[in-house]
Amino acid sequence: MSQDFYRIKRLPPYVIAEVNDMRAAARRAGRDIIDLGMGNPDLPPPQHVIDKLCEVARKGDAHGYSQSKGIPGLRRAQANYYAKRFNVELDPEREIVVTMGSKEGLASLATAVTAPGDVVLAPNPSYPIHTFGFIIAGATIREVPTTPDERYWKALESAMRHTVPRPTMLIVNYPSNPTAETVDLAFYERLVAWAKENNVWIVSDLAYSELYYDGKPTRSILEVPGAKDVAVEFTSMSKTYSMAGWRMGFAVGNRELIAALTRVKSYLDYGAFTPIQAAACAALNGPQDIVEKNRNLYQARRDVMVEAFGRAGWEIPPPPASMFAWAPLPPALREMGSLEFSKQLLTHAEVAVAPGVGYGEQGEGFVRIAMVENEQRLRQAARNIKRWFRSMGMNV
Ligand SMILES: Cc1ncc(COP(=O)(O)O)c(C=O)c1O
Repeated sequence: MSQDFYRIKRLPPYVIAEVNDMRAAARRAGRDIIDLGMGNPDLPPPQHVIDKLCEVARKGDAHGYSQSKGIPGLRRAQANYYAKRFNVELDPEREIVVTMGSKEGLASLATAVTAPGDVVLAPNPSYPIHTFGFIIAGATIREVPTTPDERYWKALESAMRHTVPRPTMLIVNYPSNPTAETVDLAFYERLVAWAKENNVWIVSDLAYSELYYDGKPTRSILEVPGAKDVAVEFTSMSKTYSMAGWRMGFAVGNRELIAALTRVKSYLDYGAFTPIQAAACAALNGPQDIVEKNRNLYQARRDVMVEAFGRAGWEIPPPPASMFAWAPLPPALREMGSLEFSKQLLTHAEVAVAPGVGYGEQGEGFVRIAMVENEQRLRQAARNIKRWFRSMGMNV
């Protein structure tokens, strides 16, 4: 029997898994690893949301198959969120679908709309599903930069001129995972105009919609008039409400893309567990003070991390948004590369981070640091790092 599976063959070894395996082994050996590797929130969801989950789970009629596209109340709650937060009107019937996490949504959208050999434009470095969701669906990726500067626009132009067949879709993700870069509305205005001119769909991943700092709220591409003609946008409850394990996300926007995604999902799943959907409604419709509280908490962690790591001899630009810092390797250790650096950091400083190369070739020279441990642990991480830097002959 052939084990030459077509899709599996197209997936490279998962680099980040190497560091994850080492971290798990170190923990099994009883070592206290400060884990800044995964973007897995360490905070609890709001109590009233957990209460709603329990309340609905106690009902006898809440345990059957749910609705694949999401219960109507949840789609209405998401429409209210976009109206209040972005001043964007959405039709809950035709412009919103609930997904089992935005990751599943992105992968299912790729399955729904990609023909083998289609060319998709995706950033490098990027969150892996932005490329592999489409690769699994049979697409070819043409990479574009992640940094939204003039080089970005040149790369888009060049891609359209020189790629055969012409690209059909562009993935954007701001605030970016892994680089934490952000864009303003003018960027999205230019992007929507470009997409219309070039007949390219835009898929925007807004997973970090509410994790912005220094009082500069994140924008949605759908704020651009006419964006719905070409764009669909994903949001997630994982980071906003610290509900990563619940698997709750949304796709909203263009009706054709939403219809295609809804259709494929109706073949693939029966929707999330009804109590989870009901509790997600409670999160969106209820008090939002926890969102601001958590934003302030991540911002305070960011400030502690940048200051403490800086004093340890590691200069890290403060991220304007997301839950990550994108940290260049210290010049003295740059030669090591991001994978070896991450392994040594784990072994000698007991700090886990994600090697930048795991997010694409252009991520080399950086590591991604997730701000998912408290301030005291971040300070401890800085002390361990300083000790390791000294042992490597760095003058810190
Ligand atoms: C940019 C980005 N998109 C999507 C996701 C997946 O989120 P979800 O938990 O909604 O699947 C993540 C998770 O880290 C992410 O960083």
